[in-house]
Amino acid sequence: MSTATETTYGMPRIGDVAPDFTATTTHGPLSFHKWKGDSWALLFSHPADFTPVCTTELCEFARRAAEFGAKKVKLIGLSIDSVHSHLAWRENIREKMGVSIDYPLIADLDMAVARRYGMIHPGEGSTVTVRAVFLIDPKNTIRALVYYPLNTGRNIDELMRLVDALQTADGNAVACPVNWKKGDKVIVPPPRTEQEVADRKVMKGIEMIDFYLSKKSL
Ligand code: BEZ
Repeated sequence: MSTATETTYGMPRIGDVAPDFTATTTHGPLSFHKWKGDSWALLFSHPADFTPVCTTELCEFARRAAEFGAKKVKLIGLSIDSVHSHLAWRENIREKMGVSIDYPLIADLDMAVARRYGMIHPGEGSTVTVRAVFLIDPKNTIRALVYYPLNTGRNIDELMRLVDALQTADGNAVACPVNWKKGDKVIVPPPRTEQEVADRKVMKGIEMIDFYLSKKSL
């Protein structure tokens, strides 16, 4: 049984506080904000246990868990399945694929969390969650939402890139351009006055393409 706290009306959006909830998980009962603490969290839903695409996704999240952990990102999965089903699937994955799913899986049988987070898209199915991802920052703000349909697995490299981009942008007051990856140049906020434009033109280490587009290496 899950309970989800209403903090905003409708589906959560970027910039909203991630709704808090309590839930039954493979790690026992869990209160989301308390479990998350001041880490980042990547809350993801999958359509159903013992299904092929979901299995590949869960395995890849598990293989990359240490990398997410090094970036202070806690992983947590969810589907509308029982905790017994989650535990049996987890054991099957360990036996057949040699992968240990060590992050918690939420058993959202009453769909309370799925509904609150807008993870059920009736056009895709009214009793399953789509492949949703919520990337939540240390202050519990939703920073990115990603939705994939039932028949296409997510790209974990892209989710890792999203974490890198948000953390880099936050830590350096910059933005990340198209196809940016860690180590690439970042975008510097545009100057706001003519003097700042003049200063920017002679600034060392900044590539100024025009007044509104400057890049630099970190
Ligand atoms: C899958 O994970 O393979 C899957 C799950 C639900 C619907 C279609 C595919």
